[in-house]
Amino acid sequence: MINDRVNGKTAVFGVIGDPIEHTFSPCIQNTFADILGKNIIYTALHVMTGNLGDAIKGAYALGICGLNVTVPHKKEVIKYLCDIDKRAEAIGAVNTLKYTENGYVGCNTDIIGIDYSLKIRNTDIKGKKVLLLGAGGSACAAAVFAASGGAEKITIANRTQSRARELAEHTNKYYKADIEAIGIDEIGKNDSYDIVFNTTTVGFGKMEGMSPIEDEGFFERKKVSLAFDTIYIPWKTKFISDAEKAGVTAVNGFDMLIFQAAAAQEIWFDEKYDMGKIKNIRDELEKYYRNTLTDRI
Ligand code: ATR
Repeated sequence: MINDRVNGKTAVFGVIGDPIEHTFSPCIQNTFADILGKNIIYTALHVMTGNLGDAIKGAYALGICGLNVTVPHKKEVIKYLCDIDKRAEAIGAVNTLKYTENGYVGCNTDIIGIDYSLKIRNTDIKGKKVLLLGAGGSACAAAVFAASGGAEKITIANRTQSRARELAEHTNKYYKADIEAIGIDEIGKNDSYDIVFNTTTVGFGKMEGMSPIEDEGFFERKKVSLAFDTIYIPWKTKFISDAEKAGVTAVNGFDMLIFQAAAAQEIWFDEKYDMGKIKNIRDELEKYYRNTLTDRI
């Protein structure tokens, strides 16, 4: 059988990480590219820590047009770039590299992934009261998203309160916003929250079946309109099902995974994709993922 899908004009892209064999990114990226008519090939590239500098230099020499970067390289890769955008700098992590004549420029599309997950549900972060559970890497992306997007008030709640304080101070260095830092057991103190993000690992792995919010009536009492969980394995965490029971719009981490990938292509091709098309592709990928790849991370 003749395979002429890849030709002399095909642009090469990839994702680097260690481990990398379980990545869903090639499926997402090649699906977007095929449907949107881009002549590219996107593949998984196993890069071990000691080889990162050589890998970036080599990729640039080969003219690889863009890369995604995953664990454990998201911070380390910064020193091999010619520039990074402001929001990636604020997060201190890069997940997308774009080829330029001076070298690779680093961006972080996790924020755009969160933004699109909300926009597709006609929700804007501007003017919202936000409760952010957790203070790790994902929380930092959500905090920068909320602060840079003009949230009215951001409450960061974490089991270890000092980490919440550090994240609040860190975020405020880049984006001035009204941010308070509290212990996770104090989330009842405010009357209402419009949007609640769970970026803790509660609900995942050994903590499956648990929620960082123990009080099941919380969503209703605090008049929450949207609940966002960064977890998507399991598909429906207790946090998500408690939110749904209260009639709240609930979004799991799959949307962020898909939309950060779409955003990477927008950066690579300097083009805005149509939201309706992005949403349709997301729905197709959800069907595929839930039917076939539920064991993958
Ligand atoms: P990531 O970088 O992927 O966001 P992380 O840095 O490991 O992950 O952060 C995990 C988050 O889940 C932290 O906010 C952690 O709280 P601590 O800072 O107090 O460790 C939170 N977390 C983990 N287990 C938890 C638990 N049993 N109850 C409440 N929060 C928990």
